[in-house]
Amino acid sequence: MSVPWIIVCGFRAFSTATMSTCKLWAAGSNARGQLASGDDEDSHSFRLARFSVDEKEQETVPGAMVSKVACGANHSLVLVAKNGSKPALWGVGDGSMGQLGPGLSSSTVFRPIQLGETNLIDDIISIQAAWETSFVVQRGSKVDQILVFGSNDFGLHGTGDVTHSSSSLSHHVGIVALSHLFSHKVPTLRVVHLATGPRNAFAVLEYDTPVGLMQMLVGWGAARHGQLEIHNHNTSSRRGPRQVALPLRITTWTRPTSVVDISVGSQHAIVLTSDGELLQLGSDGKSQLPGTMDFSSIIRIGCTWNNTFVQRGVSASEVIITSYGKSAHGQAGRGEDKETAGHVYLPPFLEIRQLVCGSEHVLVRAQRETSGITELWGWGWNEHGNLGLGHTEDTLTPTLLKSPCMTEDQCGKTEDASCTCWQGVGAVWAGYGTSWISANG
Ligand SMILES: *[C@@H]1O[C@H](CO)[C@@H](O)[C@H](O)[C@H]1NC(C)=O
Ligand SMILES: *[C@@H]1O[C@H](CO)[C@@H](O)[C@H](O)[C@H]1NC(C)=O
Ligand SMILES: *[C@@H]1O[C@H](CO)[C@@H](O)[C@H](O)[C@H]1NC(C)=O
Ligand SMILES: *[C@@H]1O[C@H](CO)[C@@H](O)[C@H](O)[C@H]1NC(C)=O
Repeated sequence: MSVPWIIVCGFRAFSTATMSTCKLWAAGSNARGQLASGDDEDSHSFRLARFSVDEKEQETVPGAMVSKVACGANHSLVLVAKNGSKPALWGVGDGSMGQLGPGLSSSTVFRPIQLGETNLIDDIISIQAAWETSFVVQRGSKVDQILVFGSNDFGLHGTGDVTHSSSSLSHHVGIVALSHLFSHKVPTLRVVHLATGPRNAFAVLEYDTPVGLMQMLVGWGAARHGQLEIHNHNTSSRRGPRQVALPLRITTWTRPTSVVDISVGSQHAIVLTSDGELLQLGSDGKSQLPGTMDFSSIIRIGCTWNNTFVQRGVSASEVIITSYGKSAHGQAGRGEDKETAGHVYLPPFLEIRQLVCGSEHVLVRAQRETSGITELWGWGWNEHGNLGLGHTEDTLTPTLLKSPCMTEDQCGKTEDASCTCWQGVGAVWAGYGTSWISANG
């Protein structure tokens, strides 16, 4: 649930002087209209997200490219990069806790998010969402800030305030406290990663010290299952405090070591470093932590609520994805397998570009080595039709996802409904029972 800053739907929009052709497709849970489809019916196949521009609805993304989609329980955020100007933040779904910003209550189509008098939207570089809370990272000239709005469940605002979802907080944009983490004022502070679980959040901060650049992992929010602590496999499960309302320093790294990615489940989290180290936090109650295995050549990690996925590149034509944790609805992608760890099998000659985890399902964007065609694969709990397969049955092993847009291209100039090609796919994202695809055309 944490792929930072991917540029998508990009080159076509930038290489022509015409309007952007970027579109955003969504499927799955839609109880509060969070798919931006204009209604509140779950969608079992991919439909276009709608944007309200000057009170008119359109199915084209208003900007050159979708940088990121972030999803909460019943709300969605999208960060749209504009050609050469400031990015724009849009929101949809339930806004009753202030998770769509102070000015937007609820909507079934994407609308611009306003964050108050000062133009806080300027220079947003990343977004994230927890259950009913939204986060944006704002780039400053020297010091970045994490802005937060929506529910303060489990102290998610990170301000030290433990007031639970009070109305005064709800319609207020907070700033996550970070200065207490440093003994001296730091001249530069960059938020290089921000990743959230349903009830907690992690940030990786990069800052200057007299001995060089350092990175610090901090976390806040729900901590009952030891989510904010490095798991010690030698001791049995440990109980942490119910909530941590001020960001807590977990560990630090000194250059050249840096954090490559961080992914957060509901009671665990995994951090991959440039040394190939896998830091494991939180609970192993569902055997979701990899433990001590051969971690050489790890390329990607991902966490659903109760599972962990680790991709290793063994050779150019062979990738191995190992999944950890039990699963009742095929979330681990290993079929009927009752084991707690094993391989997820994708066809050979697929070059994986993205592996993204939703709450209980996984999407893979890959490219056929021979033809260069983009393929999307998915598996897991399909309760809301979130795999876009036209049904709601659990999908126990990787399954090819069909494109709803049939136009002439490598698919063979056919209107055949079995066509599986996705054209011009930029990136994919997954939320709480939702899947998102940005594509040209
Ligand atoms: C984007 O900006 C470049 C350079 O400013 C310009 O040449 C191009 O036409 C613009 N594209 C769009 C889609 O506005
Ligand atoms: C999401 O919406 C559904 C349908 O209205 C509701 O049952 C559920 O409680 C909502 N969840 C949250 C966290 O708002
Ligand atoms: C766990 O136990 C092993 C063997 O006794 C020891 O080498 C290791 O350092 C311990 N790990 C932690 C995190 O305490
Ligand atoms: C996954 O974890 C969440 C929270 O811990 C729990 O509510 C849910 O039932 C779990 N799902 C499965 C399929 O075990």
